[in-house]
Amino acid sequence: MEYRRLGGTGLELSSVGLGCGNFGGIGSAPELFGRGEDEAEAFAIMDRAVAAGVNFFDTAASYGGGRSETWIGNWGSERGEPTLLSTKVFWSVTGDPADRGLSRDRIPRELDGSLARLRTERVDMYLTHEQDPETPIEETLQALDELVRAGKVGAIGVSNVNGEQLEEALATSERQGVASFGWVQNEYSLLRREAERDVLPLCAREGLGFTPFSPLCGGWLTGKYDRARPFPEGSRMTLRGEPYSDLVNERTFRGLDRFRAAAAERGVEPAELAIAWVLSHPQVTSVIVGPRRPEQLDAAVRAVDLRLSERERDELAELFA
Ligand SMILES: NC(=O)c1ccc[n+]([C@@H]2O[C@H](COP(=O)([O-])OP(=O)(O)OC[C@H]3O[C@@H](n4cnc5c(N)ncnc54)[C@H](OP(=O)(O)O)[C@@H]3O)[C@@H](O)[C@H]2O)c1
Repeated sequence: MEYRRLGGTGLELSSVGLGCGNFGGIGSAPELFGRGEDEAEAFAIMDRAVAAGVNFFDTAASYGGGRSETWIGNWGSERGEPTLLSTKVFWSVTGDPADRGLSRDRIPRELDGSLARLRTERVDMYLTHEQDPETPIEETLQALDELVRAGKVGAIGVSNVNGEQLEEALATSERQGVASFGWVQNEYSLLRREAERDVLPLCAREGLGFTPFSPLCGGWLTGKYDRARPFPEGSRMTLRGEPYSDLVNERTFRGLDRFRAAAAERGVEPAELAIAWVLSHPQVTSVIVGPRRPEQLDAAVRAVDLRLSERERDELAELFA
């Protein structure tokens, strides 16, 4: 495992982070609360991650309707392993659509819920999960700053942000003299390259970390989906396929055929090559993977040693053009 500095936060992250969005659900989708991996499987995945040198777990209050944080808390108190914790605020822990957002009242209340479930007094990393058009960014940053000052949060980050929103947030922190986002957590993979347009260059310019999620695009880049067969039973596409519906077309399948061949030529699994592609971007601090079984982590761990040049990255990206 490698360890990299997360922007200017003072934190050092393993270059692979454990995404706990599959614990007790599939992310924040209320209709899937209680599904996903059970607590015993979650424990086995966390054990394997720590044994491989992973030093941070990524979760959110809403993942699995609070189950993800609760099981991380149970694991932490049982194992006593010092692990950096990253959690997020925006969506409701009960799935109530009216209970969401980044207002001054809600953020500290939500953090207290997260701390109780995680069985800790402080989280190292706290992120806004989504943008909140109903709350001024000044108010959100003020609320987060108070939590940093109170010692309940180590550093703050932002997820699902575009370049314009990020610029505005950074300028607001500077103007107000309050805590500033130290890193971005956006989606990034061979099939989702939006971050390259303005967020990654902005992170480079401002010295921010970047911890991308879904490096396998929810499993698409493992090569498990094929034009000729129905989606495998229990796979992401059968449980929560909507976010990936734009991928179900011949262009993606043709790209995946070529990508499988490129992986075979190198003697690696497609998942390993896809994660290595993300990790080889110079601005990426740590890639957040979402294994459903302990052994699925191995591809990510091997990917750390598979270094790709800029030319190789471009050639692989071309396969999907
Ligand atoms: N900030 C946000 O808004 C946000 C959004 C999404 C995710 N995240 C974070 O990022 C984490 C990862 O997201 P993700 O689950 O979408 O990541 P991903 O790694 O792109 O996809 C994970 C899926 O890929 C499949 N998979 C993983 N490893 C595999 C392997 N070695 N071989 C074969 N299949 C494999 C599994 O699919 P099947 O389920 O089909 O078996 C698994 O559910 C989440 O847990 C969460 O912490 C954050």
